[in-house]
Amino acid sequence: MKILVIGNGGREHALAWKLAQSKHATHIYVAPGNAGTEREDKVSNIDIAVTDIPHLVNFAKDNDIELTIVGPELPLSLGIVDEFEANGLNCLGPKKQCAQLESSKAFSKDFMTKYNIPTACYQNFTEVDKAKAYVKQMSLPVVIKASGLAAGKGVVIAQNIQEAESTIEDMLEGNRFGAAGCEIVIEEFLTGEEASFIVLCDGTHALAMASSQDHKARDDGDKGPNTGGMGAYSPAPIITDEVHQKVMQHIIQPVLDGMKSQGEAYKGFLYAGLMIMPNGEIKTLEFNCRLGDPETQPIMMRLESDLVELAFAALNEELDEYDTNWHPGTALGVVMAAGGYPNSYTTGDLIIGLDQTHDSNSKVFHAGTKRNGVSIVTNGGRVLCATALGVDIEEAHAYAYKLVDSVTWQNEYHRKDIGKKAFNKVKL
Ligand code: AMP
Ligand code: GLY
Repeated sequence: MKILVIGNGGREHALAWKLAQSKHATHIYVAPGNAGTEREDKVSNIDIAVTDIPHLVNFAKDNDIELTIVGPELPLSLGIVDEFEANGLNCLGPKKQCAQLESSKAFSKDFMTKYNIPTACYQNFTEVDKAKAYVKQMSLPVVIKASGLAAGKGVVIAQNIQEAESTIEDMLEGNRFGAAGCEIVIEEFLTGEEASFIVLCDGTHALAMASSQDHKARDDGDKGPNTGGMGAYSPAPIITDEVHQKVMQHIIQPVLDGMKSQGEAYKGFLYAGLMIMPNGEIKTLEFNCRLGDPETQPIMMRLESDLVELAFAALNEELDEYDTNWHPGTALGVVMAAGGYPNSYTTGDLIIGLDQTHDSNSKVFHAGTKRNGVSIVTNGGRVLCATALGVDIEEAHAYAYKLVDSVTWQNEYHRKDIGKKAFNKVKL
């Protein structure tokens, strides 16, 4: 069958790579894709933007696409799944109403309150004076979030009242995040260790993917500005069997039951960003209505089940009859970024070293890359994700960094400590 993947990041390269391994897949199109997806066997790029939903629908109809998988949140928030379904096309992802769990943090927090899903105490605001009065009664630091989509940059942890007040003014009056900041969420600051818990849903049942952990800060030691993610590994040792059970029971299942009771079943990937607190409590920091990037790269490297079959089990509401197989080792991905990311950076830099062959246990997934004649050049902030599989985290770390050392360009930047936290944990 022919399959369409929507998106152009490292997540979509990993999805296309995994789908191409399925016995059911004859060809995979990626809209718009990157220089890495274009080079995979059985995969080609098509030049349609992720937001051009009418054009994507027509492409799927004209080319007998039997399965579409949507990578990023923006088309999901615009209702791409509703449109594909209205045209009789199989499209994996939540509909617009369910995608609000990510596209509106205010909606998401109210939803969590309504269905007793543990999360930080909060209030939503559209007016500066009321927001300022609220922060005065909170302990510091305080967390201020633009409610709408802001590519991971709409969260400020204010250390003092002055910073909190200027952030409130910037977001609500200064248009700092445009329409995404017309409403803000102010919430208590939580401490603990973060983990990414991603499941596939069929409307009624959820099937957990392998656990993972992202590194959101740009610099070593979790310092520097927040980014889309600088590296990830799977599994995350902090997700013990007990934590897993609690998350499924108290966080994931209530989302499915709540959405169903509101009239729109949740189908597709659901990502809960968790804070596992020192006292063992687990709180939900956020929901995303899609797979994580870069978490998908190590997760796909460990997935031994057929991704096409998994997608159809979700679409056909049969996930309760399905189980997944995972490589028992650890996969770890290091994001190679353009120096300066997430602020300003250059593009168009020539990447050297991509043509070396690697074994099946290591793979350089592309994100911000494009072809320029016979060369491949940088075309974004997060450029590549060097990902490797090992028997344990130490081996995966060593292989992934060997891969990082084999590729370079001018002003390349990466963290040197991806996975180190789990290193220590496994050793204890
Ligand atoms: P979000 O987009 O809501 O997941 O927030 C982005 C990042 O900000 C998270 O991954 C955390 O590192 C941090 N963060 C968000 N909410 C809180 C909170 N209530 N307490 C502490 N850190 C937070
Ligand atoms: N890696 C975090 C995200 O995909 O939102």
